[in-house]
Amino acid sequence: MTPPTIALAGASGDLGSRIARALVRRGATVRALIRPGTSDSEQTHLKALGLTLVPADPLDAAALTATLEGVSCVVSALNGLRGVIVERQGALLDAAVAAGVPRLIPSDFSEDFTQTQPGDNRNLDLRRELMARADHAQIAVTSILNGAFMDMLGAEMPILQPGIRRVLYWHDADQPLDFTTKDDVAAYVAAAALDGTTPRFLKIAGDSLSARALAATMTEVIRILSISLTNQDSSGLPTPRPEPVSLPLASARISIVFANDSIGVRIIRIPFVSCRNRDSADPSTPRPEPVFLLLAPLEFSGVFNTF
Ligand SMILES: NC(=O)c1ccc[n+]([C@@H]2O[C@H](COP(=O)([O-])OP(=O)(O)OC[C@H]3O[C@@H](n4cnc5c(N)ncnc54)[C@H](OP(=O)(O)O)[C@@H]3O)[C@@H](O)[C@H]2O)c1
Repeated sequence: MTPPTIALAGASGDLGSRIARALVRRGATVRALIRPGTSDSEQTHLKALGLTLVPADPLDAAALTATLEGVSCVVSALNGLRGVIVERQGALLDAAVAAGVPRLIPSDFSEDFTQTQPGDNRNLDLRRELMARADHAQIAVTSILNGAFMDMLGAEMPILQPGIRRVLYWHDADQPLDFTTKDDVAAYVAAAALDGTTPRFLKIAGDSLSARALAATMTEVIRILSISLTNQDSSGLPTPRPEPVSLPLASARISIVFANDSIGVRIIRIPFVSCRNRDSADPSTPRPEPVFLLLAPLEFSGVFNTF
């Protein structure tokens, strides 16, 4: 059987390249839509992933439509504001409809924007705006709502504040927050892109935890760290334990590491434990295999306060 062809916009990006790899692993033919001016080195990189590169100019509707002939699903992992999320993806939507592509997965990959009020969050409003257009078009659309990327916890996502020993929250410390790793989202997108029966929304989460639960886990990590540090050897000096200690943090695992005299804490692995479509009782909902991810080290010292 001929493998299905998936068109991918944004393959050069962080999530896009992960989706590309996941699609190739699943046996899809991936047509990467690249912008005019993409560098030779980037093109070489994308080809090495096993992608077929197709120049795509959003201003040339006829050419864009031609690039989508024979495609079974268009996946977008583009990133930006109105010019990308609404306008660039709008051009992609129009071309996909004109080419008779049956399905589109737009670049949503966010919290559930069907539950937020217009005006609350600009980025979610832009997604809702595209959704309003796409839902009136002759194409089936699947939005993947995965919460925050787990990989950003302790990095770009500032809710862990080691310097002031706090976990930050807004409004409600008990509000559950969904987290899913980038690789898990990518694996899920690939499964959904190749499944012609995916519903309008796939709401997934590697796990959910509140700011309070996160603070409690961090406090427990530090408690274990303190016990470890009070181990005495025969000389009476504190002896750093060489082996890592680890605790589960929702779907992440926090590992306490000792190196010479320094002590660090790293989130090291994210077992893919509970990715699920919470709105669907359909057991055929795609469930990619577990994947593991090495996260950027999260170094901190001190005790995280509980609330
Ligand atoms: N839930 C979360 O916590 C979370 C966190 C981060 C991102 N996201 C979402 O995940 C999606 C992908 O984000 P990312 O971090 O992977 O983005 P990224 O690394 O910045 O990649 C963006 C991609 O979009 C392309 N692009 C940007 N502007 C374009 C334009 N005007 N025309 C054509 N292509 C354009 C880029 O192409 P070039 O390489 O040519 O520039 C690149 O391939 C977005 O929807 C983003 O909002 C979610």
